[in-house]
Amino acid sequence: MGRPLRIAIDGPAASGKSTLAQRLAAYLGYAYIDTGVMYRAVTWAALQRGIPVTDENALTRLAETLDLDILPPTEADGRPYTVLVEGVDITWALRSPEVDAAVSQVSAYPGVRRALTQRQRQIGLRGRVVMVGRDIGTVVLPEADFKLYLDADLKTRAWRRYRELQDRGEAVSFEEVLETMRQRDALDQGREVAPLRPAPDAVVLDTTAMDIEEVFQRVLALMEARCRETPHVAG
Ligand code: DC
Repeated sequence: MGRPLRIAIDGPAASGKSTLAQRLAAYLGYAYIDTGVMYRAVTWAALQRGIPVTDENALTRLAETLDLDILPPTEADGRPYTVLVEGVDITWALRSPEVDAAVSQVSAYPGVRRALTQRQRQIGLRGRVVMVGRDIGTVVLPEADFKLYLDADLKTRAWRRYRELQDRGEAVSFEEVLETMRQRDALDQGREVAPLRPAPDAVVLDTTAMDIEEVFQRVLALMEARCRETPHVAG
């Protein structure tokens, strides 16, 4: 079977993108790139430095200059990668409720997006990547060979995220997670630059009633079908 060299996976928070992408990348021997990490790292650094999330100019400068590294995991604690900002390991701090609450606002600024999209595109064009985000198929890598848009209903996604946070010992209620997710959906879908939406040539998959194994098997079948239709993507 031929294989797409550049795989783009988009969709709202907790639609199952990261879990699927990690499995696909391991299966294909490709790099897994989670672009949300970059928006989270800029948000985390802004909160640390006391930069208000309303200060677009300062946030843009931060996105352009931040010393950010995404490496293979350096600890065996379940992390899919290690994220360093100025040499400090912030992998788990990126998942805090404070970053969750602010990241959509930070990622809506055109300057922040321009800086991070450029970094992401350079990585994506190398090929043999499974790249995950909100705008990979539409903006970052429109030439991707296989585009997938995962979705699931809001309550299901909030429940998945709530369980993840609980597993990590974060004290947060289901209602708070639901409300934050509702707000993030609205911001991600409503922003002017690169809003969250499926690319016209993306395959859309609703994972509400599916577990990860079902999603994985279904996507492999979809990928095979796509490669048969367009044999030139065969790697
Ligand atoms: O996937 P995530 O929850 O880690 O993403 C964090 C935020 O970053 C999310 O609210 C939307 C934004 N994001 C984006 O705008 N574009 C991307 N390619 C990835 C993430």
